[in-house]
Amino acid sequence: MHIAKVGIVGSGIMGTGIAEVAILSGFAVVLRSRREGSALATRAAIEKSVDRRVERGKLTADERDAALDRLVTTSALHDLAGCDLVIEAVVEDLATKRELFGELDHVCVDDALIATNTSTFSVTELAVQTRRPEQVCGLHFFNPAPVMRLVEVARPLTAADHTIEAATDFVRACGKDPVVVTDSTGFIVNALLFGYFGDAIRLHERGTATIADIDTAMQGGCNFPMGPFALLDLIGLDTAAAVFDALYAEHREPRLACPPILRRMVSAGMLGRKTGQGFYDHRR
Ligand code: CAA
Repeated sequence: MHIAKVGIVGSGIMGTGIAEVAILSGFAVVLRSRREGSALATRAAIEKSVDRRVERGKLTADERDAALDRLVTTSALHDLAGCDLVIEAVVEDLATKRELFGELDHVCVDDALIATNTSTFSVTELAVQTRRPEQVCGLHFFNPAPVMRLVEVARPLTAADHTIEAATDFVRACGKDPVVVTDSTGFIVNALLFGYFGDAIRLHERGTATIADIDTAMQGGCNFPMGPFALLDLIGLDTAAAVFDALYAEHREPRLACPPILRRMVSAGMLGRKTGQGFYDHRR
């Protein structure tokens, strides 16, 4: 199947990043935000990010203009009607995603693929909200999407081989490295990463070391680009709490239970970089 036009639903960090990747890789993109105001703000954010590439000499001005010409932002779901592939990247909430999959099924042409960027929910559960479960899969990009090379292609029980092949080809065409993984909560990366996050929080709570020193240790001692607390702030603590909850619900391992402090920080609106405060203060 030939993918030329990609729809993206959701204009948060992930939807915006995936849209940037896709337009720079030559795909026409329709990015749908819930409100007209956020659709315009998302376009401005992508323009700014692409401009930075020109300033750094990674892109010519002509390439930037061509890429931005390939981007349409909208608040109308029916504008996704002509897309060959639609990637859902809305809030990590199962009820919202289930409803959206039902709507997308009615909006999208019959042979379109529908993918979810979920990091936690059952892709099979989303696939069966549609009349085309064989054409649904997971496409799990990492944050920040323009930088991170990996995309997990999640295979639900219902997917046809051609869906996984087309999704994998799309990932390669975006210049990313695909790995195919069975639909299972946390796929590969989060299934391993979140035990480590919980361990880091407990290490700090036991008084072993400060947050900054734990981060410095994992950067300098393991060559990780960021330590666990800086990475939690980047991911967003609300998303992190949702990932913990989903992992615990599926595997029932105490190590994967959401650390209580994380839940309280979410209640306090301390979501990490996106709100300016998390384990670190990003407002300075
Ligand atoms: N958009 C576009 N480009 C970006 C960017 C963004 N949001 N953030 C950084 N970059 C680019 C910079 O412009 C720079 O590009 P050049 O080298 O071409 O100039 C490059 O990335 C490096 O950036 P910086 O020099 O500003 O900073 P850095 O070297 O500290 O890198 C980082 C920042 C890329 C975020 C790096 O720290 C990193 O890789 N961190 C780990 C991120 C990670 O592990 N993500 C996975 C999160 S888990 C997840 O997403 C799964 C889930 O489901 C929860």
